[in-house]
Amino acid sequence: MDLEELYQEVILDHSRRPRNFGVLENADVLVHGDNPACGDEIHLGVHFGTDGKLQEIKFSGQGCAISQASASMMTMKLKGKSREEAAEMARTFKNLVTGESTDESKSLGDLQLLQGVRKFPQRVKCAMLAWRAVEQALAQTAGEATISTEIES
Ligand code: FES
Repeated sequence: MDLEELYQEVILDHSRRPRNFGVLENADVLVHGDNPACGDEIHLGVHFGTDGKLQEIKFSGQGCAISQASASMMTMKLKGKSREEAAEMARTFKNLVTGESTDESKSLGDLQLLQGVRKFPQRVKCAMLAWRAVEQALAQTAGEATISTEIES
């Protein structure tokens, strides 16, 4: 299987069967993310454990295959991580899709397959939608917020 086939398979699998999809009833932080370029949106809920880790994380909303797959893989990666680890992973992912792969990129696992979007600015927004939402969630301990892919963070 070449990289292109693997990409197709992983993206389609996650977009058809997104993991950690749904509304998180006990969310401490709820972030609504919007991509005005297409009208797609994500609702991300995070519940922090007493140890401060991202104990539960779920998303809902609708969007293209890339945004859904990115969100699905993101929740799998970040569940159980500390705030610092999650923020570091968000930075690593942003570097991957906007600039250069680094040694840290390997920690992203299957998410590395999304690096091809860096050639397409609109697609970068799709891939980043969930990550912008989680960056905002990590900046809070409680409450609701709204973010947009049009605002640089
Ligand atoms: Fe809307 Fe990708 S086209 S998030």
